[in-house]
Amino acid sequence: MSKAQAAKFISLEGIEGVGKSTNMDYLASLLTKYKKDFIRTREPGGTHIAEAIRHILLQTKDEVLLPKTEILLLYAGRYQHVNHVIKPALENNQWVLCDRFLDATLAYQGGGRQQPLASILQLNDWVLGDFKPNYTIILDAPVEVALTRIQKRKNLDRFEKEDISFFTRIRNQYLALAEREPDRFRIVDASQNLHAVHEQLASIMHEIMQTE
Ligand SMILES: Nc1ncnc2c1ncn2[C@@H]1O[C@H](COP(=O)(O)OP(=O)(O)O)[C@@H](O)[C@H]1O
Ligand SMILES: [Mg+2]
Repeated sequence: MSKAQAAKFISLEGIEGVGKSTNMDYLASLLTKYKKDFIRTREPGGTHIAEAIRHILLQTKDEVLLPKTEILLLYAGRYQHVNHVIKPALENNQWVLCDRFLDATLAYQGGGRQQPLASILQLNDWVLGDFKPNYTIILDAPVEVALTRIQKRKNLDRFEKEDISFFTRIRNQYLALAEREPDRFRIVDASQNLHAVHEQLASIMHEIMQTE
């Protein structure tokens, strides 16, 4: 008999409105179809403390949340999340589906807020070491397309209030990250209709199921 496939950690990335939350449901249905035990989680957040940190990150208050504070808070939450949720799940042979992970910090704080990527990577190395997702799926769409989809959202959070140039830098940073690690990243054309996006995701999951 062939060896059982080890549980995989899959993160979903992309700018606001590309369809991450929508497609988490679809990815979960695929894992169910493949009879995989799995958990779904998200960042910022994923534990009580990390969700409290999320609240600080998204709120719009008078006090400016400085770029370095933002990065440190993201990593504080991530350390809780990885150690209390993600690693235990993987050790328990549960797959992990995560709405955003470390690449979001590189893209948003590095690309969007133009903080030095080398410093974020240094912090990442201290906090997470080599730990990273097995696969990272980027839902990619032109910024105008993605932002049009979230126009109906009320009470925009700190990130959703940013402008087109901010999201363009993020999109470009995501694509640059994918170019650097082609084995980990898969890019989905998320400008297409939901059915076409599902087909791309199904084909990626089919490929992942063939690995060890
Ligand atoms: N491929 C698509 N085509 C058209 N609308 C979409 C598509 N994917 C998602 N949407 C819609 O766009 C909006 C934003 O999707 P959402 O999943 O909340 O994005 P995200 O979590 O990436 O910010 C939702 O109203 C969703 O129904
Ligand atoms: Mg979402």
